[in-house]
Amino acid sequence: MNTYNLAIIGFGGVTRALAQLIVEDPHRIASQGIGLRVVAISDLAMGSLVEPEGIDLAAVLALPRGSTFAGLSGGSGVADNEAIIRTSNADIIAEATFTNPLDGEPAASHVRWALESGKHVITTNKGPIALYGESLKQCAAENGVHFAFEGAVMSGTPVIGLARNLLTGLTVLGVQGILNGTSNYVLGRMETGVSLEDAVAAAQNLGFAEADPGADIGGSDVQLKLSILANELLGASLSPADVATTGIVGVTAEKIAAAAQQNKRFKLIGSAYRNDDGTIVAEVAPVALTADHPLANISGVTNAVSFDTDLLGIVTIAGPGAGRTETAFALLADILAVHAFEGAKVNG
Ligand code: HSE
Repeated sequence: MNTYNLAIIGFGGVTRALAQLIVEDPHRIASQGIGLRVVAISDLAMGSLVEPEGIDLAAVLALPRGSTFAGLSGGSGVADNEAIIRTSNADIIAEATFTNPLDGEPAASHVRWALESGKHVITTNKGPIALYGESLKQCAAENGVHFAFEGAVMSGTPVIGLARNLLTGLTVLGVQGILNGTSNYVLGRMETGVSLEDAVAAAQNLGFAEADPGADIGGSDVQLKLSILANELLGASLSPADVATTGIVGVTAEKIAAAAQQNKRFKLIGSAYRNDDGTIVAEVAPVALTADHPLANISGVTNAVSFDTDLLGIVTIAGPGAGRTETAFALLADILAVHAFEGAKVNG
């Protein structure tokens, strides 16, 4: 059995949920023919914890809120991300710090340091992929390691894996999707008379919203995800700034009620299409969809993407778009992708 050493950078809701999965459901991982050992954790608020033989995750998860790692053996109150990424005995770095849509930092540096030091990277962080996806993939290839980011779009719902593995042989002409769980949840709550502010607060409590929920309702979260999908699935070279973006802030209760009168529902839609000349046009905007549209009944935190393909027409995948455990599953799927990558190296 291959046992992988994992270092976690950013110990928030998602990576805690991954730690919980490892502690509480070891059979799920063992049944895939691998072992997992967390050898380092680094977090801005908690500091660093390094244990080359494997951290006692149950003890870490039991720490009271607001604790740091300073009191634990191998622990310190100061987060030393670079040292852990470059010099720990980790095989895989799980990067899960906050998304910075402007320059992707510090996550982009974390990913680059890891790849340069020959470590696989798994991440849910949209910033580095949307901004520097091509060069990071190149860096991974040069260093003979895998760079996986299934959870960056639609949490654990395997949208990137599906398109890469199951749509092979088709030409994807365009994609259209609901890619933000928070804004979709908020629009649904507003349909029942809840205010935008109260609905956003509820989404924050449920763990869907970004650290800055302005990214959810302002559209920049979808802007990043759509850039990733367009680049990964349509072969585009878009940066987020190329995606014209309008969020849901201007969608008032009155507009929602007027749309309902016409049997329409507002959804925040990200779409990217290939023009006849090969250029890709991408846009994020609220759209009032008619009831027969495949995305009209995607409700709550559920996301969905419709692929417009040449031989099958429209193929739609729907599933969770956010959530701690759902996104932790994406990290597990990425770990299994690393395992498959290692297997392919061994088998030539
Ligand atoms: N804030 C994001 C959402 C989290 O609501 O979809 C997942 O990227």
